[in-house]
This record gives sequence, C-alpha cells and structure tokens, in this order.
Amino acid sequence: MTDLPFNRPYRTGTEAARIAAVLERGWTGGNGPQSRHCELLLKQLTQSHGVLLTHSCTGALEMAALLVDVGAGDEVIMPSFTFVSTANAFVLRGATPVFVDVDAVTLNIDPRRAAAALTARTKAIVAVHYGGVGCDMAALSTLAADHGLALIEDAAQGIGATVDGRALGAIGDLGALSFHETKNVSCGEGGALLLNDARWLERAEILQEKGTNRSRFSRGEVDHYTWVDIGSSFLMSDVSAALLAEQLEQLEQITAARLRIWDAYHAALEPLERAGLAQRPRIPAGARHNAHLYRLMLPDRATRDGLIAALAVEGIGAYFHYVPLHSAPAGERFGRVHGPMDVTDAAAGRLVRLPLWVGMTGGDVARVADAVRRALGG
Ligand SMILES: Cc1ncc(COP(=O)(O)O)c(C=O)c1O
Repeated sequence: MTDLPFNRPYRTGTEAARIAAVLERGWTGGNGPQSRHCELLLKQLTQSHGVLLTHSCTGALEMAALLVDVGAGDEVIMPSFTFVSTANAFVLRGATPVFVDVDAVTLNIDPRRAAAALTARTKAIVAVHYGGVGCDMAALSTLAADHGLALIEDAAQGIGATVDGRALGAIGDLGALSFHETKNVSCGEGGALLLNDARWLERAEILQEKGTNRSRFSRGEVDHYTWVDIGSSFLMSDVSAALLAEQLEQLEQITAARLRIWDAYHAALEPLERAGLAQRPRIPAGARHNAHLYRLMLPDRATRDGLIAALAVEGIGAYFHYVPLHSAPAGERFGRVHGPMDVTDAAAGRLVRLPLWVGMTGGDVARVADAVRRALGG
C-alpha cells in the first residue's frame, strides 16, 4: 500500500464554509461572484489583460484554438513531450500538430527546432512550460512575431511561476492554466484562459457562453441575449470557483511550501548526481519556477522502471512522464514529426517524478531520498 502518495491536493481547511455560502446565496452556475473574484486575483497575479475561468485547462486550450482560428490544412508547432490536451485542442479544429523536440535542460520546446519546422501552413506555436519552468519565451516570441504566428502558452503547470519577470501564461497571445487536482492550486477540475490583448476579449466571452452574448447581457449592455457565434460551455461552476478562491488566496504560502520541499530533495539527492547515478533538474537563469514537480533522470529505462517499482514496494508513489505524443496512436494518426526526437524519447524513458505536496515533512523527503539512494545503489 502507498502510504506516501505521489500527490495530495492542498486543503485550506475553510473550504466547506465558503462552499456553504455559495449554496446559501444560490448562484452555483458559471461567471458568478466567486468566479469574478478568482479572475481578479489571477489578473493581479499575471498582469494579463483578461482572464476567463474554464472547466479545465483542456477547455482553455480549446478556446485558444478557436480564437486563433486554426482549421484544416493549418499546422501548429508544439512539443511531443506534453499532455494530450495540448494537441487535441487543435486536432479538434482539423489542424495538424507538428511535433518537435525539447531542450535537454528544461524539457521545454526548443525554439531552434520550432524554427526549423516552419512551413507556409504554420499558424501557431504552443509553448508548454514543463513542471512550471518557463520556456525560452524571448526566442519564441521573436519567432512568432517574425512569421506572423499566434503564440499560445500551455501553462497548465505554471501558476505562480515567471520567466524574465513575467507570469507564465501571460506572455504569448493566449495562455491556459490548470486547476486540476494534480496542480499546485486546484479545485478538482478547473482552468483559466489568459487573454493577453484586448482584441481577444469580446469573442472569448461569447465562445465561453455557448456562442451567445450572455456576458454582455449580464453586464446590462444588451436587453436580451442571443446566439451570435459558435461556442460551447467552457464555464466553471461557482462552487468550484469557491474552492479555487480559497487556494488562490494562499498561493504564496503554497508555492513557498512546495519550494522548500523541492529544495530539500535537491540537497538530499546531490550526492547521487555527484556519483553519476542520477541527474537532478536545472533551472535556467531568468526562470522562477513554482516547484510543480521534482524529477530525476536515470541512466536508462530499466533503471528508471526498477526505481519506480522499488519505491512502490516501500509505499512511495512515483511516476514517469509522458508517453510522447508522436508515438501515441492518435499522435501518429493526426500529427507529424519534424526533426529528431532524441531528447523527448530519452526523457520519456528515463524520467521519474517523486512525491511533492504541501504537508510533506522533512522526514518524508529524507525517506524518499533514502529509498532512491538504496534502489540506485548510492
Ligand atoms: C501540459 C498540460 N496541458 C494540459 C493539461 C490539461 O489540464 P486539465 O486537466 O485542467 O484539462 C495538463 C494536465 O495535466 C497538462 O499537464
């Protein structure tokens, strides 16, 4: 049995009262008072022009794909080392994901590989900030601007992190955050779309509200609402928003606590790296990460799989990341690869993520580090 799980969602302890207040008030649908409050907090945090809460980061990415208007024949450059939603959002619109390799230090999209994959059909680039460590946004922004491409940030793991002093998700044209229970800040299922320019706002509100101008109606700008465009229901319930508000209000403490655990792992595992048994993560200059995950790179797949199995025997939850999209059945069907995938394939075979959640003690970190050392013979 796993007694030291991989993840345990953060709880403030006061959520129940806040949710009870929402139920009492009666507004449990979308775009309610708690949603507005969360949007304001996220705007202050990210300095984005506009924020809309969604039911998931997946939904926010789907809205982004609609807003940048990609369709059949268009190509969208993205890493293969990511979660399926990064690609699905564009495949749903009929566009082709073009998978490129990632940088060996950050496991984020390599801007040189992205540049090499450009064609006359390229419409957008997606920057995925792996583990809350920012991509090289300076290079990607220049590339996008030089070629008239949309730049979308999949900042699912990036709440509270910055690169060159700017919040992840608020640098490109559009950014997507996740509040899934596995994320630093969570409300079960949830997300947000960051609209980093005024021009996106009007249509985004319509897309989010099933293709209607209901948001304008709610503000008293029109006397009734009607169907004006395509859209879907991308809203977050105000019950979920209450849970989210609790956590966003404690973002600083949550991030600080996670960073302490991350730093403890980093110190405890330093001898392993020195002995050449595992590689610890490196955070590039300019990136301020949010300790979303702590990962090690092992020499090969067998060692990595053996380590996960050995930790499981000791009741410790640890996982790999990701099955690269280019090698998944749907990735082969809907996407194409540009260039070598060496770093992606190596990471998929050699990476392990260790438990990291607020509430883990120094003793827990020492226990995991010790189990890792023993398993690797360090
Ligand atoms: C990089 C990335 N993109 C998108 C998502 C999807 O997020 P959600 O579960 O909120 O839809 C995730 C979730 O794990 C993710 O890690």
